[in-house]
Amino acid sequence: MKLEVVILAAGQGTRMKSAMPKVLHPLGGKPLLAHVIETARMLDPVAVHVVIGHGSEQVQEQLAHYEGVNWVLQEEQLGTGHAVAQVLPSLDPQSRALVLYGDVPLTSTATLLQLLGPDHDQTLALLTTVLADPAGYGRIERDESGQVRKIVEEKDANEAQRCIQEINTGILAAPADKLAEWLPKLSSSNAQGEYYLTDTIAMAVEDGTGVEALPAANMEEVQGINSRAQLAQLERWYQLQLAQQLMAGGATLADPARIDVRGHFKCGQDVFLDINLLVEGEVSIGDNVTIGANVVLRNSSIADGANIQANSIIDDSVVGENCEVGPFARLRPGTHLEARAKIGNFVEIKKAHIGQGSKVNHLSYVGDAELGRDVNVGAGTITCNYDGANKHLTRIGDNVFVGSNTALVAPISISEGATIGAGSTLSNDAEAKALTVERGRTRVIRDWQRPTKK
Ligand code: UD1
Ligand code: CA
Repeated sequence: MKLEVVILAAGQGTRMKSAMPKVLHPLGGKPLLAHVIETARMLDPVAVHVVIGHGSEQVQEQLAHYEGVNWVLQEEQLGTGHAVAQVLPSLDPQSRALVLYGDVPLTSTATLLQLLGPDHDQTLALLTTVLADPAGYGRIERDESGQVRKIVEEKDANEAQRCIQEINTGILAAPADKLAEWLPKLSSSNAQGEYYLTDTIAMAVEDGTGVEALPAANMEEVQGINSRAQLAQLERWYQLQLAQQLMAGGATLADPARIDVRGHFKCGQDVFLDINLLVEGEVSIGDNVTIGANVVLRNSSIADGANIQANSIIDDSVVGENCEVGPFARLRPGTHLEARAKIGNFVEIKKAHIGQGSKVNHLSYVGDAELGRDVNVGAGTITCNYDGANKHLTRIGDNVFVGSNTALVAPISISEGATIGAGSTLSNDAEAKALTVERGRTRVIRDWQRPTKK
């Protein structure tokens, strides 16, 4: 049977106390609603409809890269039933509709597939769970034989109904033609004056469609976000799942509670990740990589055997096999380190290619540069790449030795095997295999009398 997914995301999210629509708040570095859209797509539906209202322009704009989403505007938020009704004109009556929530980000596809099994093509399938504290949720009322009878919202429930611990997660699947029958019949005469989607359950029982309640695998996968505290809680759970996946894949984590992945992290085997690693965007690391404490990796790849020491930041860079980076190194976008290169403490590299085995070990800035193999860049070397208007390139050949505290005023080229004397400020190219030094001669004045106090 054809599947169409309807995602409800029009609510305001008052309790977030935010100018940003709730469904745009990030979890694992990605908007809540983006998680739901991606989950929906994994089910291979013929259409994904997203009902938006509060902050609709912002939501649509930020998620515009999800092509093929049918954005449906709900001008006034008159309830979950009213929200689904807005999608009716675009729903094919022949399909099965799955209703998800833009603020329930972590439902697994395995759980959703239960609701979509061929056995209940024609029924209303409902995802429920049992909570020790069911406060705030709609309760599942069953008859003597255990069949679901209806859902009672907390605000409409009597004393006895409030004691029911089985709750409605909100997620359900039903034949689209049935929804088209039921939704126009909803009434808003209830405690909240809203058109409740949950009232369709009693309708399904009445017209013999049949209702099946299926259990969620765990609480977190049906957890909705209403406050920042809930968001933080779910974020911790999500991160712990990712940490467990990394460990299962062969990585040792010093502390699985102290790693955050905001994006995709591909990790090899026999990797050691020390505490407080932050991963953002697309990051991959090879086998036998060691990452020290407090490291940030963003949109980068790190090859086998590399050692990234504590407090380093690697952004949009490529680190080759067996490289050594840090501690306290910063690789800015466009850095490419070939195998066995070494970048030491307080070194900043930007848009530079560092050849095999080359070293920039201390306190240097190398930007807009191409370094060959086995180059040694002394402490305090600066590529003066910017003239105030334009950026210029520094070229350094194989086996060059740059003495400490050297300024290389780009554009400049240092040929193979050259040696640059410490303290030089070079603005002309340096010859291959020669020593180039630009430095005042030492003057000695003997028996120098220091001034004395008057
Ligand atoms: C709903 C269920 C309740 C369930 C709970 C699970 C109803 C009537 N109640 O209650 O049984 O236990 O979810 O969290 O369905 N939305 C719209 N347009 C609207 C109203 C809501 O798009 O007019 C969206 C909201 O943005 C939100 C979702 O629907 O993502 C749920 O709405 P909310 O008001 O939070 O429903 P609850 O009262 O929590
Ligand atoms: Ca809610």
